[in-house]
Amino acid sequence: MSKVAAPIETLKSEHPSVAEHYDKVWTEEEGEAWESWPFFRQNPSALAFALARLGDGAPLTGKLVLDLACGVGYSTQELASRGARVIPLDLSGTGLRKTLQRLEKAGLGGKAEAVRSSVEQIPLATGSIEAVFAQNFLMHVNPEKVGQEVWRVLKPGGRAIFVEPLAHHPLVKLYRVLFSSYKGIKPKWTSRGDLALLAQPFSYKKTSGFYLLTALASVGFIQKRAWLLKPIFGGLHAIDRLLLKIFPGLEKYTWVSVTELVK
Ligand SMILES: C[S@@+](CC[C@H](N)C(=O)[O-])C[C@H]1O[C@@H](n2cnc3c(N)ncnc32)[C@H](O)[C@@H]1O
Repeated sequence: MSKVAAPIETLKSEHPSVAEHYDKVWTEEEGEAWESWPFFRQNPSALAFALARLGDGAPLTGKLVLDLACGVGYSTQELASRGARVIPLDLSGTGLRKTLQRLEKAGLGGKAEAVRSSVEQIPLATGSIEAVFAQNFLMHVNPEKVGQEVWRVLKPGGRAIFVEPLAHHPLVKLYRVLFSSYKGIKPKWTSRGDLALLAQPFSYKKTSGFYLLTALASVGFIQKRAWLLKPIFGGLHAIDRLLLKIFPGLEKYTWVSVTELVK
């Protein structure tokens, strides 16, 4: 891939406390990466739905995809393994180094070039990107600024997919109050209003909600036992789909949202 940005060590961060937090998290372990939770890898999942919608039914082969706030790069690997050329972007230098190591190990080293920057000010040319994948970071940033930046870097007709946890699921809310590991950096959990601000500049926007009762399957006892997780997740997910069909108003309380945007 051609050079798009300075080496990841040389850029200074605009959000030092968040960058420090994640440098530490990604050094110690990879527990905050969604795909490292078996819950999020169940199927049919919000993540699988999001990846399928990114290409709008077409393969990602050869497409230039920006992986926003890539963390340790599970999504970067997923996108590269589907044939995309990927630009993983994050504030955390440690996360980006692990992302590149992961790709090397998977034999996908030539498929990505890392950019260390804030998602609120993306150092890429206007109209240079074909698709944007974004997951699990809006709680740390200004959604309106991110929407404007993503709109700017996308080519006309380009698609962005955001997979984001929301603020309103009652049990998840309680869990966050009791056990949040983010206390030092004070995330502002994403509301429907925030998603509307994110989506403002786009010509097409659609949000789908996932996981009402299914959220119960994410408790540690169930998640650690594959033989329990699979049937419980599957059963609760089917009930959720039915509930959401009969009572669409419940979508507001889902844990995870997938937002599709087209420039
Ligand atoms: C909870 S992790 C999610 C990582 C990955 N997307 C995933 O789902 O596994 C949040 C990530 O967002 C990054 N991040 C937070 N604020 C950011 C910002 N303003 N610009 C770029 N990355 C940011 C963090 O460094 C961290 O890697």
